[in-house]
Parts: sequence; structure tokens; C-alpha cells
Amino acid sequence: CGIVGYLGEREALEVVMSGLRRMEYRGYDSAGIAIPVNGHIEWRKRAGRISNLDGDLADDPLPESTVAIGHTRWATHGGPTDANAHPHVSGRVAVVHNGIIENHLALRAELSGEEFTSDTDTEVAAHLLRRELDRGADLVEAMRTVVGRLEGAFTLVAVDALAPDQVVAARRNSPLVVGVGDGENFLASDVAAFIAYTRDAIELGQDQIVRITRDDVEVVDFDGNPAETRAFHVDWDLEAAQKQGYDWFMRKEIFEQPRAVADTLLGRLNDRGELVLDEIRMSPETLRRINKIVIVACGTAFYAGLVAKYAIEHWTRIPCEVELASEFRYRDPIIDPMTLVVTISQSGETADTLMAIRHAREQGARVIAICNTNGATIPRESDAVIYTHAGPEIGVASTKGFTTQLIACYLLGLYLAQVRGMKYGDEIAALLQELERMPERMQDMLDAQQQILDLAEELKQEKSFLYLGRHVGYPMALEGALKLKEIAYLHAEGFAAGELKHGPIALVSEGLPMFIVVPPKGRDQLRDKVVSNISEVRARGARTIVLAEGCDDEARAAADVFIELPHVSTLLQPLVAILPLQLFACELATLQGHDVDQPRNLAKSVTVE
Ligand code: G6P
Repeated sequence: CGIVGYLGEREALEVVMSGLRRMEYRGYDSAGIAIPVNGHIEWRKRAGRISNLDGDLADDPLPESTVAIGHTRWATHGGPTDANAHPHVSGRVAVVHNGIIENHLALRAELSGEEFTSDTDTEVAAHLLRRELDRGADLVEAMRTVVGRLEGAFTLVAVDALAPDQVVAARRNSPLVVGVGDGENFLASDVAAFIAYTRDAIELGQDQIVRITRDDVEVVDFDGNPAETRAFHVDWDLEAAQKQGYDWFMRKEIFEQPRAVADTLLGRLNDRGELVLDEIRMSPETLRRINKIVIVACGTAFYAGLVAKYAIEHWTRIPCEVELASEFRYRDPIIDPMTLVVTISQSGETADTLMAIRHAREQGARVIAICNTNGATIPRESDAVIYTHAGPEIGVASTKGFTTQLIACYLLGLYLAQVRGMKYGDEIAALLQELERMPERMQDMLDAQQQILDLAEELKQEKSFLYLGRHVGYPMALEGALKLKEIAYLHAEGFAAGELKHGPIALVSEGLPMFIVVPPKGRDQLRDKVVSNISEVRARGARTIVLAEGCDDEARAAADVFIELPHVSTLLQPLVAILPLQLFACELATLQGHDVDQPRNLAKSVTVE
């Protein structure tokens, strides 16, 4: 969900609505806004996209106000209906909430005298707050008492119509940042909500309560003691969070990848061509003692982790496991202080991943986060963070988030090899040079987009797609298929090419489109085996769309459609191979008339387990 609060000199409705629009990627089941007016609360809320709420506000405008709170929702408790949309109002108070209040049923039973108007867990917080306010507490005190009663994850933002010159918020396990302006202040789940007005921000810690007034920001902990916060400056601007002429954010983000990859590499190589990764903040001795690496992540980030496993094990000879964050802590994983846990998360807020790192740290493991969002919860709770510099990623289906995660994984692997003095010293230098040239190779791939657009046009009636790959091409098959599932709602499955004969080949039928990622020609027979797979499926009627090096004539001959990849090292091939697969999904979904940036049922940042 996305949350915004504003207090200042401007028309608050405008500020909050524009903030909600920028955060709509966080959830788009319903949206709402509340303002305090002459001692009472007025609000509008509506199921569906923010445009529905816009329509309501046009038909039935709210009075002018310089204070407002707003919300865009990704439903957890209670379906996406008008009544379940936030804000929730109880008398003089309005509340918006992100997260889950786990003990809401018990609290609801206790509040039996109250009139409930929704099925949400949030409404209990509204009634509890109002009761405290009616007893004479001020909004901060009331919030402190109420959060003491809540279990689970929450960011709550509230306004009191009888004390309207403040907005108060509490944060546990869900993101919240303060935007600091001149005579105005902002609260939001994401800096994107207020970046048009200020780039000065304060990140709130776990279990803190903040009160903003026009000129002040006060932060206390849940016991009421003054709390420490961290101020930061947002290093991208509004321009970066806009579509800049593209039809979709996703398409813009696909085309930004050469730049995003270059930015992520920037400053990480010194003049001597060595890797500098000071942000790891662990001594070479500590890094040398590590005897196991466990990578935990979800969705696309998990597939970046799969690629990392191949690279890290090859370069460092440290055993490396990759695990879905949602599975990790529930299977009693074997980790200890010699284990390095690496979490990958674009948003830095994914609850499954957060819970996994908490579990890992409890067992004494060290945690390095790979993250794209400055100051998010996951990097805050990790021992160190390698930031990817992709800039804001708005499209729900991750693209530049993914390729920059790959870069961060490669850098980490090569750095570990460097400090551990692995025999691959020359290889490291050559790979670093190759990484530096990668943005150009990626640009060449994107410049050849017309072929992919034509392919999408040709295949737009198809209902099912298979993706095959081997070695690091295998996670590309998985990620290529995931993109198509996410935004085109089509059946798409990725397989390890070697597994084809153990089952999936039974799915091959006349005309079935199959993407096959072929490894570069190398010393081993990996590539030859994949080329044989192409012939096997083609013989059974598949329509083969082959991604292989331009010089691979056999692969070309076995292809119905040949997508040329540049010659790169096997381990780095995902950086170029994924681009046509992303673009294909984006174009196909566009041709089918889907909302590419905000696919149904998904949210960009899933802050519930
Ligand atoms: C959600 C998104 C996916 C994303 C995953 C992990 O499910 O819809 O696109 O890959 O979360 O997100 P993260 O922010 O942790 O990388």
C-alpha cells in the first residue's frame, strides 16, 4: 500500500492526490483521502484505480484544506470494495494504514460497542485512537497507547479534526519517510510521493512515532523518548519518476538499463582496474573466514540470486545456496556466524525477505543487502548494503532492478574472489573490463528492438509459451517466463534445458512458441547440448525462438526466429539475454491491451508475508 500525509501552505488535496498517483504502483485496489474540516473529518474513498477517486472528487468536491492524508491500497484483509478502502474514520479521527494488524479480531471483539463499517483490520485502529482522544490524550499519546496494543506490521497515519495542525504517524515493519519542506512537511511510504516538492527526507526507524506540523518534525520511540533518525537527500529528481514520452514506465525502465548498469558500476573500480567495495564494511579476514553463502530473495530478485550462485561458486569456490525468502526461515536452515547471507530486494521492503534476514541475524549470520532503495528497511537491518543505482523503478514487473541486481551480485562475487586471493586474478580483471563494456552491448541489443516488436505482433494470439535455458540461461528462462505471466497473464514456463527430456518435452505441440537461450560457444559442451535441444523440440513442431551468439551458425540454422546476442562471457550473458525477453513481454502485454505498469493482483512492494 502507499500512504501520504501533508501539512503546509498548499492545497493539500492536490499534494496528496499527486503523491498517491506516484505511489499507485504500490497497490491499486482502491484509494482514498481524508481532511479535517471545522472539527470533523471529510473523506472520499473508492474501489479501483485512483482515477475512480478523481471522478468522485470531481462530482463531489472536498472543501479546501492545507492538511490531508491519503492511501492507495493493495488488499489483504477485506476485499477491494469502497467500504474497505482507506481512510477509516471514527468520529473526529481518520486513519490510513499499511501492513497487517494480526490481532484485529480480538480487538474488534473488544470494541463491540463501536459501529464497524468495513471488514478491514485497520478499522480497529481508528476506533482505538478515537477512544484515546476522547479520553483527553493528544494524538501522539493516543498513537503510543494504540500501537502498544497492536500486533503485526503497520504504518499508521492519522489526523484529528479537533487538533488539525498536525499529522501523526507510527511505524513498525512497514516503510515511512518524512519529506522536509519549508513551512510544510510530508509523510509517505516512498520519497516518490513528495519528490516534486522536496528532496530532503528523514528516514524513520523501527517503532517510532512522528508528529509533523508546518514547521517541525518530532520523532519519539514507542515509549515516548526522543528518537534518533537519519536525514538524507534524494539523489534523483521528479524527471526520473516520470515516463518521459514512453507509453509505460516498464518500457522506459527497459531502455534505461544500459545507463542503470553503468551507474551501478560507477565508482566501484579504481584506476588499477581493481574492485573497490568499501560499503561491505567487513574486514578481509572476516570475508576470508566465510564458509557458506546463502542468498535469499523473492520473485525476480530470486532469479538474480540464481545467476549469482553460478558466478559466486565459480569465482570464489564458496558453497552458495539460493533460497526463496518465504521458505527460508520455516525450514530451520543451517546457518552460523561463518555464513554470509545475501539478500536481494529492489524495494528493500519485501516482508518475506525482511523476516528471512531477521532470522539469519538471530542465528549470528552476517547479512549483506543488495537493494535499490536508499534507507529502506532491509538495508537498515543488514550489516552492510550494496546499493544498485537503477533509479526509481515504478513498473511492477522488475527490469532495470533485475539487471542492476545482477551487476551487484557479480561485483560481490568478484570482490570475494579478490580478497580471498583466488587463482582467478586475471580472470577477475578481464571480467571487470568486460562489465565496463556491458552498457554498450546492452544498448546494441535494445537498438535492435524492432525484431522483438514484430515477433510480439506475430505471436499475440498465442496462449502458452515455454522458455528453455541452461547454466545461467536457466534463470533467464525462468525470468523471461515470469515477465510474461506478470504482465500478459499468459501461461509461460521456464525450464532447465537438460530437464526437457525428463518431462516438459511432453508439452511440446505443433506451433508452440519456445524461447531458447543458448550459451556462448565455450570449452565445454553446454552450448552443443542446448543446440541439440532446439532440434529436438523443433522436430516435435515447436516454433523455436533462439537467442544465441551471432556467430553460432548451427543455432541460427535450427531457429525459426533467431535473436542475435553479442559475444560475451557465459556468466555475464544474462545481462544481454534478458533484454529481448523483457521487451517481448512488455510489447505482447501492450498489444493485448493490458495495463503493463500495474498488472492485476500484483504490487511492487509486498510488505505482508
Ligand atoms: C513483488 C513484485 C515482483 C518482485 C518481488 C520482489 O512480488 O511484484 O516484481 O520481484 O516482489 O521484490 P523486491 O522489491 O524484494 O525485489
